[in-house]
Amino acid sequence: MRFLLINGPNLNTLGKRQPQIYGTLTLKEIEARVAQRAAELGAEVSAFQSNHEGALIDFIQAETEGAQGIIINPGALTHYGLSLRDALEGCGLPFIEVHLSNIHAREPFRRRSVMAAIARGQISGQGWQGYIQAVESLVAIAKEEGRE
Ligand code: DQA
Repeated sequence: MRFLLINGPNLNTLGKRQPQIYGTLTLKEIEARVAQRAAELGAEVSAFQSNHEGALIDFIQAETEGAQGIIINPGALTHYGLSLRDALEGCGLPFIEVHLSNIHAREPFRRRSVMAAIARGQISGQGWQGYIQAVESLVAIAKEEGRE
């Protein structure tokens, strides 16, 4: 089983960026923890981050084949990234939307996600552990749907 772990704009600065909101772990540390949990569950993770919507779309298109699902924190693209939404819908893979912060408890513009309606689910406000919950869910979904 292989999953794509995708992070959007500004998430490369985790650890330094508003740690009171986003936590103190770097993206590399989070990616390593997700990879470790995935390995425990018999899965692999291909991680990618970009500040550019088109690069995220290129990655999804290039890596869909051979993947069983996507964990994605689209960053601010969550709220308006329609091309990314189309790529997620078009690839046909189940995906889980993750947010470190609780987007529903923040500014009004963050409360709307253009991805949520086509996601298998949204995990918001659980910090880095949200990514772990997402990989656990995707493994369960892949097994349930016979896509191991
Ligand atoms: C975020 C929430 C977004 O509103 C914000 O633009 C981010 C991070 C989160 O993980 O809480 O970049 O997706």
